[in-house]
Amino acid sequence: MSINPQPLHLGAAWYPEHWTEARWAEDIRLMKEAGFTVARLGEFAWSTLEPAEGDFRLDWLARAIDLLAENGIRAVLGTPTAAPPAWLTTRYPDTLAVNEHGQRYEHGKRCHYCVNSPTYHERVRSLVGALAERFGGHPNVIGWQIDNEFGTVCYCDTCRAEFQGYLREKFGTLESLNEHWATAYWSQTYTDWGQIPLPRQGHNPGLLLAFREFVTRSYRRFQRLQIDLLRPHLREGVWITHNFMDWWDAFDHYALSADLDLASWDWYVPSGHHDPLRDGAMHDLVRGFKRQNFWVMETQPGSINWTGVNSTLNKGEARAMAWHAVGHGADGLLYWQWRPAPNGQEQYHGSLVDQSGQPRPFFEEAARIGTEFARVSGLLAGSTVAAEIAILHDYPSRWSLDGQRHHKDFGYVRHLLHYYKPLAKRSLPVDILPPDAPLDPEKYKLVIAPALAVITPARAETLRAYTEGGGTLILTLRSGVKDACDALLPSRPPGPLAELAGVEVEEYYALAKAVPLHGRQFTGTAKIWAERLHILEEEGYGTQVIAEYGDAGGFGWLDGFPAVTAHPVGEGAVYYFGGYVEETAQDKLIGMVCESLGLESPLKTPRGVELCQRVTPDGEKIYILVNHQAKQQKFDIPWAVRDHISGYAGKGQVILPPYGVVVLTILDL
Ligand code: GLA
Ligand code: ZN
Repeated sequence: MSINPQPLHLGAAWYPEHWTEARWAEDIRLMKEAGFTVARLGEFAWSTLEPAEGDFRLDWLARAIDLLAENGIRAVLGTPTAAPPAWLTTRYPDTLAVNEHGQRYEHGKRCHYCVNSPTYHERVRSLVGALAERFGGHPNVIGWQIDNEFGTVCYCDTCRAEFQGYLREKFGTLESLNEHWATAYWSQTYTDWGQIPLPRQGHNPGLLLAFREFVTRSYRRFQRLQIDLLRPHLREGVWITHNFMDWWDAFDHYALSADLDLASWDWYVPSGHHDPLRDGAMHDLVRGFKRQNFWVMETQPGSINWTGVNSTLNKGEARAMAWHAVGHGADGLLYWQWRPAPNGQEQYHGSLVDQSGQPRPFFEEAARIGTEFARVSGLLAGSTVAAEIAILHDYPSRWSLDGQRHHKDFGYVRHLLHYYKPLAKRSLPVDILPPDAPLDPEKYKLVIAPALAVITPARAETLRAYTEGGGTLILTLRSGVKDACDALLPSRPPGPLAELAGVEVEEYYALAKAVPLHGRQFTGTAKIWAERLHILEEEGYGTQVIAEYGDAGGFGWLDGFPAVTAHPVGEGAVYYFGGYVEETAQDKLIGMVCESLGLESPLKTPRGVELCQRVTPDGEKIYILVNHQAKQQKFDIPWAVRDHISGYAGKGQVILPPYGVVVLTILDL
């Protein structure tokens, strides 16, 4: 479905229910002044929309949406199911979630519902059904957000019975479950489905993994319930989304995204500053949820209210952030929030207007972004990021490894970013994809599969076909260790990938001290983790050693063994990184691989200036240059260009002020 007639939207979360209606016109006038094109509303308004069971009061919301429409501002409606009202949770206490300590949540927070409660489902059906009927066909509603930041994991008895039912469906028999989970270990053997607990205090890895799948299924079902209520009422082109939380790992985001039309996420920078490498990866992650452009459904208007020091972004930084998001595929960006409620938990959070209703200093920066978005909106229509590199991101592998880190500094996402950062530093666009995505070697010159611990025959086959078709693959430590039930495979890692990699892992070591690495073109160290590789014998041109371990001062087990290897396969090659290579050497190594594949940015930029690229449907390239630093940057470019923000056309040099941005196309002179 085509989701975005106007490609670039800017706006804010607006809660008209917090003020008298007399104020709304002024809010909307200011939104227009800021160049806002969209407002998200309704997502916490249950108690105002249904103050008593079955007593729907939807007229005020209709008036708010109409007023927005009269002023050319589109509406995204949130279903308010993250905030069930007090009458509901009091009358139906079984709708409240239970935490891992067995305590039932109390009213006054949000996301305090049990996602599997049949009573809750019924109440949700009633309200969301009414909203769908009333607003589904409204010409000013362009999209719907289901709930808000799914997050709570419930451990109530309903969920336990559901979990047992899920396992019965998954395994069929208890014999099969017992075998997959190796329950003879510690006498965990189950003789009745009803004996299976929820993992309140850690558990068997097989059970833990199945529980995450179950949480995924629970939220997917809950989301589906709402989608099914909405869909029949929606106009053509109206999309449904959910606002995810970046790397949050409680459920598989690919599974939930499959039922949505648009992926979106909430972008906050708790440090008070933008970290372009980390944040760029999060945009790419969310773009990968549906393999299409996304929205930033919330971001901070300067500051937040939930860290130790809620410092404010530097002047200009939010503008660089907004364009950075667009450069990574965002088609919409909304600030949270428009104005703080007089009371409630988030009184001191950043906003566009303050408690008095007047614009805050940040308003001016937002308004500048509004003007600029309007200028390039047409140019960017239909364009997206075209990456030649993919990084595979896998929830089951992540659950498995983060559950048993084996070294406190090993973290799945951190390790993934260790491969992402050298690419981002070179301004090379990257798709972050699920491991079951199709991998076309014509499209992707390089695929990196960091710590792909869980490997199935289908996954092994996809990777084999990709490399034999000419692709280059990087496999890394901790790959090919587990099956889909988190059981150890009865083979040396990387298991079914060993033949492809040309190596197998004889032993793995969590490193207390760094180990030297010697390569033909570099030296460095491995830290955190090192695998001792054994090269598999084969006919003809075999595995090359790119680096080997040096003398680790008495440790001994690794001395002289291969650490990083390359194995030619068909037209392609498979690298195996058995050592967790430290940053400088990693940067060099990844740089070498990219160079060998002709992967380079079309423009050399100084440190801290990123070149983002979007490509239009007819192949035109749009270059978004973002200066991520608070100092001016000046550099040469080999093209004559037009900057679509300032209108300037020229050649030879680009001067970017602190946090400066240009949106360039190349001119045919
Ligand atoms: C989350 C929520 C918002 C708001 C912000 C505050 O992302 O979705 O409702 O609470 O945090 O930063
Ligand atoms: Zn529950």
